[in-house]
Amino acid sequence: MADFKGLIRGTPLLPILQPDTVEQAVNIAGAVYASGLRSVEVVRRTSAAAAAVSAIRETYPDLLVGMGTVLNAEHVREAVDAGSQFIITPTISEKLLTALSDSPVPYLPGTASPSDILLAVEAGLSEVKFFPAAVCGGAAMLNNYRAIFPEVSLCPTGGISGDNLHEFSSLPNVFAVGGSWMIPKACVAESDWQGITAACSLAQQQYTK
Ligand code: 3PG
Repeated sequence: MADFKGLIRGTPLLPILQPDTVEQAVNIAGAVYASGLRSVEVVRRTSAAAAAVSAIRETYPDLLVGMGTVLNAEHVREAVDAGSQFIITPTISEKLLTALSDSPVPYLPGTASPSDILLAVEAGLSEVKFFPAAVCGGAAMLNNYRAIFPEVSLCPTGGISGDNLHEFSSLPNVFAVGGSWMIPKACVAESDWQGITAACSLAQQQYTK
């Protein structure tokens, strides 16, 4: 199985999509795809999430689509059954790690502290999400992790936007950045798909190492 970092190589920005309907999700995914980004995380916080993953995969086979906000074994099954190509969780536990390791797709567990990261490392992982990044110490916290966990790569999400993206993306231990700012709520409300493409394109320009 490909590692998470390997899977999203070349597309280090993960727009976070919370779908109201399947049709809306496909339109948003199309707008993301048009920007050149090649991955999207659908959060399972609405009843449309699983069907949205399946529909996006069918409509945009070149776009990597995964499910986020996965918290337990049942959610892992739901994500895999929907066709998710990766799974992201907001948090971590031994039970959740077991459920994830039983899944056939790459996954990224959420961490918010050094203890969380150690739990992931003890499970043999070297890639984790850092959430909610902005309020859990931000880029300064991630910079401190470099000395403690030199082998761990992180994907911060939560509270990131064009204003602070560079602080995170420029860190050597950051391999990707995720967030909902690339799919602006105002654009979704107005079905402004070009606005979403523009937001994703701008994020690509602002993601600098
Ligand atoms: C999440 O998992 O919900 C994301 O990290 C969202 O954070 P954001 O909306 O602040 O980008």
